[in-house]
Amino acid sequence: MNIIVIGSGGREHAIIKKLRENPEIDRIYALPGNAGMKEADCVPVGAKDIPAVVAFAQSHDIGFAVVAPDDPLVLGMVDALEEAGIPCFGPVAAAAQIEGSKVFAKNLMKKYGIPTADYAVFDSVSEARAYCRTAKTPIVIKADGLALGKGVLICQTVEEADDALREIMEDRMFGDSGSRVVIEEFLEGPEVSVLSFTDGKTVVPMISSMDHKRAGDGDTGLNTGGMGTIAPNPYYTPAVAERCMKEIFLPTIRAMNEEGRTFRGCLYFGLMITKDGPKVIEYNCRFGDPETQVVLPLLDTDLFTIMQAVRNGTLADVDIRWKDASACCVILASEGYPKKYATGFPITLPENPKHSAQIYVAGAKWADGQIVTSGGRVLGVTAVAPTLEEAVKNAYEAAGDVHFENAYMRHDIGTRALAAKGE
Ligand code: AMP
Ligand code: GLY
Repeated sequence: MNIIVIGSGGREHAIIKKLRENPEIDRIYALPGNAGMKEADCVPVGAKDIPAVVAFAQSHDIGFAVVAPDDPLVLGMVDALEEAGIPCFGPVAAAAQIEGSKVFAKNLMKKYGIPTADYAVFDSVSEARAYCRTAKTPIVIKADGLALGKGVLICQTVEEADDALREIMEDRMFGDSGSRVVIEEFLEGPEVSVLSFTDGKTVVPMISSMDHKRAGDGDTGLNTGGMGTIAPNPYYTPAVAERCMKEIFLPTIRAMNEEGRTFRGCLYFGLMITKDGPKVIEYNCRFGDPETQVVLPLLDTDLFTIMQAVRNGTLADVDIRWKDASACCVILASEGYPKKYATGFPITLPENPKHSAQIYVAGAKWADGQIVTSGGRVLGVTAVAPTLEEAVKNAYEAAGDVHFENAYMRHDIGTRALAAKGE
């Protein structure tokens, strides 16, 4: 069977590499993919160009599609492909709203009693400003719509909140995503990412992970798409997992069914483990990036079998297994990311990475027969080992053999998790 994977990042590269383990898959086309994806045929079709993706699928004997990024999901890529007779892994647009609108997600949680931060919604700047004067600091302000993972501002003072509201609602720094805002209570505690497979009836959490969102060591600097990940997350203990299943995962699946928005695909729970128990910080309607780069290497069951079962509503019949090991992914970014950075530098990759590490390429293109950098996050290096300590050490050693001129990485991926394990 030929399949297409829509998207172009490190997450998509990890999905493609995992799907390659299935011998029934012939060709994998990445739309648009990137220069580092040797396992796929990259086709210059934009991930949001629904008519072009459908036309490509119909003319290339495509038997299955994996829609990975949030934008095409929210825009209805799965609806269009399914309508054209191409089975898909990913939620329809009505279900993708769980990520596409924070207001929708918050109202859903309130209606169905799913634990999350208290909040209020505003579409008027003056009312939002007035509310901030009564709120406890820090004040968390979120643009309603998609904002490349950057639509959350944590304000320490009322003045900072005023500035944030001006930027989001008046200057529209996130475009129309900022026509409404959610203002919410600041929560404290360790964060855990739990990706899950669900066909709308059964929900199977994947191995838990921890992202490192800030640009600098010691969680300093600006928020990024993610500078590295580890799995499993030591804060996700069996007791926490049990509570999450009962109080969050199953209620969310049921709530979406009740609303007529059955979710099929990967539902990502961004959780904070507060002193009052686990609470939802955000939902994503897709695999996380770079969470996928540590979660999928630990999956012991065929990914394509799982994806087909999710699509067909037979997930309960699949026995999903995980390796008894740990993984660490270190992201190499272009110096200056997430602000301004230079690109176009040749990338040297080791022929055989140390410790059998995987290299997942995100921001690279061909130029004059060479692979050169083309994005903020350039690639991720993932190592799997029996212990987290070894996985971290091995990922950094393997990353040391990857070179490009302005490479930047954090040096403390996994440090917090290792400290927690020692507690
Ligand atoms: P999000 O894009 O929703 O994942 O938010 C980005 C980051 O902002 C999260 O990973 C948290 O670290 C932080 N954050 C979001 N909402 C809250 C909140 N209510 N309280 C504290 N931190 C938050
Ligand atoms: N790493 C966070 C996300 O994918 O949204």
